[in-house]
Amino acid sequence: MNDTERSTTASSRPLPEAEPRKGLQILAGLARTRNPLTALALMREYVGQAFEIPAPRFRPAVFIGPDANRQILITDRDRLSWRNESDPVVKLLRRGVLIVDGEEHDRYRQIMDPTLQRRHVNPHIPDFWRYTDQVADAWADGSTQDMLIEMRKLALLILMGASFHVDFTPHMQRLWQPILDLIEYISPGLWIVWPDAPTRAKHRKAIAAMDDYLYTIIRQRRAELDASGAAPAPSDLLGALIVAPDMTDDLIRDQLLTMLIAGHDTSTALLAWVFYLLGMHPATLTEVQQEIDAVIGTADAPPTADQLNELHLLDQVIKETLRLYPPIHIGNRRTTEDMAICGYAVPKDKRVMYSIYLSHRDKEYWRDPDQFCPARFERGKEEKVPAFTYVPFGGGPRTCIGATFAQIEARAVLARLLQRFDFTLLNGDKIHPHMGATLEPRPGVQMRVCKRRA
Ligand code: HEM
Repeated sequence: MNDTERSTTASSRPLPEAEPRKGLQILAGLARTRNPLTALALMREYVGQAFEIPAPRFRPAVFIGPDANRQILITDRDRLSWRNESDPVVKLLRRGVLIVDGEEHDRYRQIMDPTLQRRHVNPHIPDFWRYTDQVADAWADGSTQDMLIEMRKLALLILMGASFHVDFTPHMQRLWQPILDLIEYISPGLWIVWPDAPTRAKHRKAIAAMDDYLYTIIRQRRAELDASGAAPAPSDLLGALIVAPDMTDDLIRDQLLTMLIAGHDTSTALLAWVFYLLGMHPATLTEVQQEIDAVIGTADAPPTADQLNELHLLDQVIKETLRLYPPIHIGNRRTTEDMAICGYAVPKDKRVMYSIYLSHRDKEYWRDPDQFCPARFERGKEEKVPAFTYVPFGGGPRTCIGATFAQIEARAVLARLLQRFDFTLLNGDKIHPHMGATLEPRPGVQMRVCKRRA
């Protein structure tokens, strides 16, 4: 990208729109599938890698592909803010690291980043193993389980246990519905076309329930740290926030709720999609089980980090799942000045989105983009795509804070479950990607779960 592109919109083209006939076809596709992803994919096909969504009161500029991703995430990141004041996610997370900008954002990252480094996550592999057993021990042999629900239980226990050092087990039942309500609150909905819509009573109630819980654990940990006089453990994110200067209980609550939502809803979606894809490709499932048997065996003891790193096929399956169904399928920004993105003029205060989902499925970069093909991530033989085409965790200074945590967690959970059970998918033909806060397999992933025999 040259300086002219960076600094001026004078020589830039206007953002293209769909011509009327194609626009009707896109609307027909939307009506047929009732899935906005279909409309986005058709916009890509008929209009190109940059376009404006022509909805009333919601006209974001959408960009696809490595050049746009790089410019939005790296080169021009200072000219794009995250925060859109009227979005429910901003009302909910207030000053959470996900939705603040500039120095404030960098400060929260500096406090929390170290607790999520690989060397502090690896010691939690036994906890990931134990929580997996805790959830799976409740599955009767031959029973049917919805992996979307089961993986949410697991992701919540793991996030709270390994990152906040809090056992969520006694609170799961009581806070399950409030958490689902909060996720619904920030998912695409009426607020897109009616930004000032009042917050519904059930969402206000859910916020109050979560606040009550989060302020309680903050007070308890503060009291414990005061009483012991000891520094928090290196992986204790809640402790790190408490001992950091100038962090009030309100600011800590905002970070905790941010991590809780961003850190468990994504892993839930990833794990559920892995089960869907393995269910649809039973031969790959068997191969992954053979790999786990060879590396870990039938031992009940948790694997070491090195053993998890040897599960190459499992890793490829996880990466391919993140490509096909990236839990965060679109990134959200707002321009702080008139600018050009990939040569297209974008005015100040415009909502800009970079589509991870469409970048991951663009036939300009990927071979058979819609096919499940874990081998494209085989070490040393990776499919060659330009940098910033594959961005399941974003990139640049706002790259996912939990990327390492999520990948170790996924490997540990899947290794344990596939070591213990055989899985058969029962509703593969009904599953479609649903655009909620994350991209979820709806109506859920029903699997028959049978204990593996020696
Ligand atoms: C499979 C799991 C996950 C995926 C696919 C994922 C994806 C992403 C993506 C794409 C972004 C960047 C969004 C943007 O550019 O606007 C992001 C940011 C973020 N993620 Fe994750 N995430 C995952 C797991 C986690 C976990 C486990 C945590 C917490 C432990 C977490 C916490 C966050 C936070 C706080 C941010 C905001 C970072 C910032 O703005 O500086 N995520 N994630």
